Amino acid sequence: MYNMTDDIGEILLTEEEISETVSGIAAEIDRDYADCERKLLLLAVLKGSVVFMGDLMKKIRRPVEIDFMRVSSYSGTETRGKVDILLDLHRDDLQKTDIIIVEDIVDSGKTLAYLTNYLKFKGANSVRCAAMLDKPSRRKVKFEADYIGKTIPDAFVVGYGLDYDEKYRNLPFIGILKPEIYTT
Ligand code: IMP
Repeated sequence: MYNMTDDIGEILLTEEEISETVSGIAAEIDRDYADCERKLLLLAVLKGSVVFMGDLMKKIRRPVEIDFMRVSSYSGTETRGKVDILLDLHRDDLQKTDIIIVEDIVDSGKTLAYLTNYLKFKGANSVRCAAMLDKPSRRKVKFEADYIGKTIPDAFVVGYGLDYDEKYRNLPFIGILKPEIYTT
């Protein structure tokens, strides 16, 4: 049987390390929003953040609401540089809502920079970002996430929701994809 793990060159975060990392982010969020009486909305960016979102929301102790947006900026291993909204957020209570965008990875920074501005423009009371991974060496626009799981080097990673052409999302760990998989 074909085993997806054979396509992984190096494991960056094991299941256990991911679990500890997500617990840390959840604790930070609980601490930062302890005195906040407004609604807190976890807004996951589909599809890559779906596994992170599922784990993070279970570890946060205060009440949260959840919602989803879908944007498109990537094709294969390269960013197209333009962000299209494929699934929008429709709420009439944004003025009374604090949003945390839940994202799998910050790469060029374009997706989160765009979404943050977009949600502020739509009237959200506040917008912060939680990213499982950060690749700061790839940044094309100025952007810093408020919560970051792990900073990683410039490599194409998959697993824990992250894909290469829709594959590898269901790997329970995060690993570097062997370059020959996407260069051949
Ligand atoms: P950015 O707008 O360039 O920051 O891109 C963010 C999006 O690109 C992420 O939500 C991912 O979907 C995708 N992406 C960036 N780097 C990787 C990677 O190493 N593996 C898989 N997807 C990635």
